[in-house]
Amino acid sequence: MGAAAVPGRTAPDGSPYPDRSQPTFEREIRRMFGHIAERYDWFDHVASVGNDFLWRPRALAALDRFRRGAAPPRRVLDLGCGTGDLARQVARRYPRAEVVAADFTAPMLANARARNRRAPEGRRIGLARATAMRLPFADGSFDLVTNAFVARNLRDLPLAFGEIRRVLRAGGALLTLEITEPTSPAFSALFHAYFDRVVPALGSLVASTGPYRYLPESLRALPPRPVLLEMIRSAGFPRVAARSQSLGIVTAFLGEAAPPPSRSA
Ligand SMILES: C[S@@+](CC[C@H](N)C(=O)[O-])C[C@H]1O[C@@H](n2cnc3c(N)ncnc32)[C@H](O)[C@@H]1O
Repeated sequence: MGAAAVPGRTAPDGSPYPDRSQPTFEREIRRMFGHIAERYDWFDHVASVGNDFLWRPRALAALDRFRRGAAPPRRVLDLGCGTGDLARQVARRYPRAEVVAADFTAPMLANARARNRRAPEGRRIGLARATAMRLPFADGSFDLVTNAFVARNLRDLPLAFGEIRRVLRAGGALLTLEITEPTSPAFSALFHAYFDRVVPALGSLVASTGPYRYLPESLRALPPRPVLLEMIRSAGFPRVAARSQSLGIVTAFLGEAAPPPSRSA
């Protein structure tokens, strides 16, 4: 007899509501993103009051400052690409780069594919269905790995950073953009009133309940900036930096993989 299926947590309206403490967490995350794939972009714009239009380009600019002097990347992986917004921005920013946009949620990839078809830079973007925990790419096959608003959803961050490091060549770079705790305690109260109450209420009103209750919970599960930086360093990135925007509510975590060993004796 096969093992009984473990039902995932659902919100009162029946929508997926991932529970980090359960072994089914990853499956529930995938189910949740599949459930919201169609309205993901517009809800993102509404909930962030349009700030998400600024966050990704600013994070890429911070990455370029961090990599100053390095050659433009030729092969880039955007992990947890969702509908492909960051992957397209990366492709526009580095016009000679080949970009792979990967995600483990099929409806998100379908959405990304449709949008890529309508964008000239979309021709340089390949899509891959892949989980961050076990990347189907060879060691050292990318110059840059980016990911935006994915880290909060990963069940094992050190494992994911280790996989990212493995697929990067020596001297390659990492950009992890994520929602973070505001840097100003005064602003923190206002931010949490909005993020913990208004956003879930808005979500249940216009979409569904579970995903937007999960959202503030997922922020609490993310380690604080210094711990996250140390985790990235321990995964094989000796040079790291954090660059916050919008009073700290998003942060770009940057890492440079150890450069190749010098040949000089
Ligand atoms: C909040 S969305 C962010 C999408 C996009 N990066 C953006 O900037 O809008 C998170 C995405 O990460 C994907 N994701 C979450 N966990 C993942 C995992 N373990 N492996 C691959 N993709 C994952 C989800 O399917 C979803 O598309």
